[in-house]
Amino acid sequence: MLWLMVNFAMTALLPIFGGIAAWNASLAYRAPTKGKLYSRLRSSLIWTGISGLALFVKATAIVLLGVSGWLFVEDKATMQLPMVAIPAAAIVLFSIPAAKAIRAAAVKASKEPLTVQDRLAAAAPGWVFPVLVSFVGSLAAAVQALFIAQWPLKTGTVIAVWSFYATFVYLLWIRQKRNYCRFVVTGSPKTGTLAVRISWKFGVLLTVVLVAAVGFMFGAKASRLPERMSMADHMHAHTGGNAPQFVSVTELTGPRTGTPDRSFTLEAKKTMITLPSGEKKEAWTYNGQLPGPELRVKQGELVEVTLINKDIDEGVTIHWHGVDVPNREDGVAGLTQDAVMPQQKHVYRFIAEKTGTNWYHSHQQSSKQVQMGLYGVFIVEPDTTLPQKTADMAVVLHNWQAENGTSVSLGELNRLQRKIAEPGTLVRLRFVNAGNMRAPIHISGVPFQVAAIDGTDIHEPKDLTDSRLDLAAGGRYDVTFVMPNMVVGISRQTGPFAHDGNVLVISPSNEGVPPDAVKGPIFDPASYGTPAKTKFGTDTRYDRNYKLVFDNRLGFYNGKFTFVHTINGTIFPDAPMLTVREGELVKMTFVNRGFDDHPMHLHGHHIQVLSRNGKAVTGSPWIADTLNVAPGETYEVAFVADNPGIWMDHCHNLNHAAVGMSAHIAYEGVLSPFEIGSATVNLPE
Ligand code: C2O
Ligand code: CU
Repeated sequence: MLWLMVNFAMTALLPIFGGIAAWNASLAYRAPTKGKLYSRLRSSLIWTGISGLALFVKATAIVLLGVSGWLFVEDKATMQLPMVAIPAAAIVLFSIPAAKAIRAAAVKASKEPLTVQDRLAAAAPGWVFPVLVSFVGSLAAAVQALFIAQWPLKTGTVIAVWSFYATFVYLLWIRQKRNYCRFVVTGSPKTGTLAVRISWKFGVLLTVVLVAAVGFMFGAKASRLPERMSMADHMHAHTGGNAPQFVSVTELTGPRTGTPDRSFTLEAKKTMITLPSGEKKEAWTYNGQLPGPELRVKQGELVEVTLINKDIDEGVTIHWHGVDVPNREDGVAGLTQDAVMPQQKHVYRFIAEKTGTNWYHSHQQSSKQVQMGLYGVFIVEPDTTLPQKTADMAVVLHNWQAENGTSVSLGELNRLQRKIAEPGTLVRLRFVNAGNMRAPIHISGVPFQVAAIDGTDIHEPKDLTDSRLDLAAGGRYDVTFVMPNMVVGISRQTGPFAHDGNVLVISPSNEGVPPDAVKGPIFDPASYGTPAKTKFGTDTRYDRNYKLVFDNRLGFYNGKFTFVHTINGTIFPDAPMLTVREGELVKMTFVNRGFDDHPMHLHGHHIQVLSRNGKAVTGSPWIADTLNVAPGETYEVAFVADNPGIWMDHCHNLNHAAVGMSAHIAYEGVLSPFEIGSATVNLPE
């Protein structure tokens, strides 16, 4: 949301503006001439005014954010704002009138030296001090915004931050006063020789640097993941006295016996590709294809997939994104299996229980491996023959890291794709977003319906014209329409259809240009289609209520200092392990008070979206497995705990997950023998 950004921008700018004001105010007395004094005071006043404006904008942002909920502003309202606002009030009361009076006595552009009175007035702590404190306060606010993103906010934290601030301000006051007294008596605020003063300053600087360096080293060390750890480790603490029988992930398999109805072999290997830009690049693929082979099965079939790793040194897995497979088949390295190393293989077996558009991708080092190309589409068709004249195709969206920036793809790489469909054909486009960002999709030339979200059908979808789809990272939309006697275009951008790639053109005769893609309203699943009976409603009593608050700050992840995305102020392995028991009804509330989208993906379950920003979903039941939570948004979602295991619940901007944005849902009593850490091969993110 805009105001989160505005607040942060002001927090970052305030120390700069306040710093210039403080610099000019504190050095005014040293001005060589009255003219100089005049201009320093003027600068100080101007920058104080600019700071005041920034503070006003920040305060407005905080008030507006507060309307969305206290939780968005608790740290800002209890610490950041008052630390700057209190000195700002003192500035208005004391500093501005004093500075104006002194300036009136000084003369613009005068070359006359200052009198003793001028200097004393300019150095008076009564007006300089508030300007300094406001600078200190803005620094403190910036430090909090960058390093503390806690939820729930602990009283201890608030007290600690205020104590630091108060102590610092007190010491500053003592110093100011002492210098001023010395000034009055000796005519100079300085003590000792130049050498002594410089070594003092140097000493202070050295101490600060040392303290920071030691803190940095400790922080880095403390954050390093152990050589071996179980992702299920801290579960025991949450398990009540009457824990059910322990069961291992390795027992929670799909059918181990029986002839499979469908078997596939996927071989992970390095493959050279050509990006839309023409750049050649190494990709990692399944079976040398990009996206990997499109796997289609029928509902109810027993599926067997053999994964072979040819030459991906870090090892690979396959996660069935959107398919609620038994836990052991879930493909998470270090949790449900060990990564499959070069020349090794692994067999997945599960029954495709629910129809829909899903996808598969490696869940070993996933931020890198999915980026490199280890993904494909997995479609479960209904167990009936499709009506004649159906054109059913998957369209995968991805973002490629090229030498000169990011290069996006739609379907196949590097070309304009044409498909022929006779007028009257029922077209079903299965969009899969395999990138890390929301993907806009424009469909021009035909009214269409969104028939399914994340593989679950929409109840009574309505025709949409010119609506833009905005597909969550990891999410899927099935779009249907009856082929008109016209050219239909699909593009990731507005404007005319480019001929050089990245668009899909469907036409009756393999030629023609679709109408331009227009920037229509964004499709909103919360009010699309009509209501139908659901498992959960507003009056449902939930056995568990979990709240996950997303934020960002600077911090350490596994020894690296970086920008992290937090869940309840923490990152993996401290991020929440949410415990459930089989059969329970679980409600989760997602709140995003950071700057980035967080497409949250829960493994092994589908969630029903209940409300967004406090407003209940009014359209068709909205069932998802990947839900984009945009900055400033709050979602309530619910699911039935009906698939025992330990499941990841993470952000599908895999770059966020790679620096710790993953929580877990653990069924009581389930244990995993698999481990992660530097002594193992497993790197789930
Ligand atoms: Cu598609 Cu855990 O991911
Ligand atoms: Cu995220």
